[in-house]
Amino acid sequence: MYEQVSHSLLNEIMTRLNPEIKQQELRHFYTRLGANFYSIYSLFHLLYGERRDFDEQAQCLVEIMARQYINRSEKLKRKDIEREKDHNWFLSQKWVGMALYADGFAGDLKGLTDKVHYFQELGINMIHVLPILQCPVGKSDGGYAVSDYRTVDKKFGSNEDLCALSDALKQQDILLTLDVVVNHTSDEHEWAKRARNGEKKYQDYYYVFDNRKVPDMFEKTLPEIFPENSPGNFTYDEEMKKWVMTVFNNYQWDLNYSNPAVFIEMLDIILFWANQGADIIRLDAVAFLWKKIGSASQNEREAHLILQLMKDCCQVTAPGVLFIAEAIVAPVEIIKYFGEDAINAKECEIAYNATFMALMWDAVATKNASLLYQGLRSLPDKLARATWLNYVRCHDDIGLGFDDADIRAVDYDPVNHRKFLIDYYTGRFSDSDARGFPFGQNHATGDVRISGSLASLVGLEVALASEDPARIENATRHILLLHSLILSFGGIPLLYYGDEIGTLNDIDFLNDANKAHDTRWTHRPNFNWKKAELRHQSGTIEQQLFNTIKKMICVRKETHAFADFNNRELIHVENPHLFVFSRFDHSRILGSIVVVVNFDAHPQHLDLNHSQIRSALGHGDIKDLISGTTPAMFNGELVIPAYHYYWLSV
Ligand code: GLC
Ligand code: GLC
Repeated sequence: MYEQVSHSLLNEIMTRLNPEIKQQELRHFYTRLGANFYSIYSLFHLLYGERRDFDEQAQCLVEIMARQYINRSEKLKRKDIEREKDHNWFLSQKWVGMALYADGFAGDLKGLTDKVHYFQELGINMIHVLPILQCPVGKSDGGYAVSDYRTVDKKFGSNEDLCALSDALKQQDILLTLDVVVNHTSDEHEWAKRARNGEKKYQDYYYVFDNRKVPDMFEKTLPEIFPENSPGNFTYDEEMKKWVMTVFNNYQWDLNYSNPAVFIEMLDIILFWANQGADIIRLDAVAFLWKKIGSASQNEREAHLILQLMKDCCQVTAPGVLFIAEAIVAPVEIIKYFGEDAINAKECEIAYNATFMALMWDAVATKNASLLYQGLRSLPDKLARATWLNYVRCHDDIGLGFDDADIRAVDYDPVNHRKFLIDYYTGRFSDSDARGFPFGQNHATGDVRISGSLASLVGLEVALASEDPARIENATRHILLLHSLILSFGGIPLLYYGDEIGTLNDIDFLNDANKAHDTRWTHRPNFNWKKAELRHQSGTIEQQLFNTIKKMICVRKETHAFADFNNRELIHVENPHLFVFSRFDHSRILGSIVVVVNFDAHPQHLDLNHSQIRSALGHGDIKDLISGTTPAMFNGELVIPAYHYYWLSV
């Protein structure tokens, strides 16, 4: 019945399509629309079926998809077809990413285009350029408060510069990831300005209220994202004389997705950037897309429906383009952004593995992998055609978002344990060389998150100041150990610019009134190219880090078992300092790899006759793939040096 309705609506839409669209060559578009329309219709109907203008909005949706299909270049269309044929292409181990600010890394987009050789030298072939769209000066949230979704901010250059970058990357087979900030706009966006001017149409793009009645109801259950800088979730706009929902900063107005016009606008923007050559679109703050009074307004079912609808529509116009979900939420919730109740990924093909990230930091601080093992073991398998983005650091804070039940399961008290971690990383714990800063401190709930560069968080800053070679060595080992994990765990590793040369905290931001209140700027550095040059000078830390990471990347790319096909097994070992897992080749033709990481300050032993390790490796001489040598054995056991890692194979 539903199917019939959708079918006849599609026919109607087709006959009503603008004649100038109908004249175009739309063969692939029609095929894909036909294949996806039932799903698109169902989702659109679930979300907006009650509305009187439902049919008109559906018409509008299809027109947008068609227009953007027409705008899509032949080159990109060919790529779409190629990727449709090889639809697991992004699960390959060959992809290695890096996230960066174009200005911090290279001044602007032109500068970035000139630095492509640096990525090639390291082996990076996926770049996430953090947001580059127009933002008001000072009220930009690092690019996440967009005032014009179709224009590159002039501080980065122009739209033409972006196209040039995209072409240069394509020529070298490097993927480009761009952000689309879907949850909110800047309060200086055209829509916000018109809302402020009293245009009802645009007030309906946001959550706008005459008085505090509804906001107060919401506040009862809404958490605060930036409690220090932007307490509360609503802001009074003096000009509009109304309250507007602002979950993040008070200048970031939340978009109202219960209005289909908002959905259609945002889809149009996503497809616009897909057409500018983005291979991957990072969808920001996706957990927040649907608000409900009486809830935390995160991870709502409708948020998932919106993403499914976005994906289905993108499948029609630009099927080669992938989505990354940025959902920094509870472990069991994150995985749902691949698509719930679906065999194949039906929302975002890629999601930030925030759980793994936070758990690694736990293991570093405690020198113990128990919670890391426990937390990962509790996670369900992801869908088949989906993959993680594994990262150590990104431009945001580290939130200790693992599960309380898991913390208890390894015999820690959740409150005390989190307090220990915060103290440890902010250097308040006497036995810690970490130099991070608190972020998002919430005095009511006691929550705190952590800012700081990888190198400073693992003690390199303190070690260098102490001039103690042993401490320096410990810090560099940690940097490598953490990279060895993201490069082998399963998923796309996403390095963070500067970590590959041990970039320390950068506290210059304290002199900038627009940034001083936000400690995340500690780890959003201006890349130091002089320091980077030291990667070519023997005996330097930069060289040790860069070369070893480069080696790991190279080995990863050659090792089939590192492709991501749910081909990982966590291995429980008695020794709590060790984290061990195997990666088997999914075709089972080639050998398996066993990854062993020692989080402790002392060498640890591992019995290679452990049944899971034996069955993964088989018999024969063990080799560490990174050093290419046979690791030390003692009394029949493998010895893993302090803060060291092995990628073992036979
Ligand atoms: C995302 C970004 C973060 C930003 C927030 C609000 O989480 O990663 O930097 O502050 O969205 O837009
Ligand atoms: C919260 C949000 C996440 C955002 C971050 C910024 O963790 O869930 O989306 O990136 O705050 O600090």
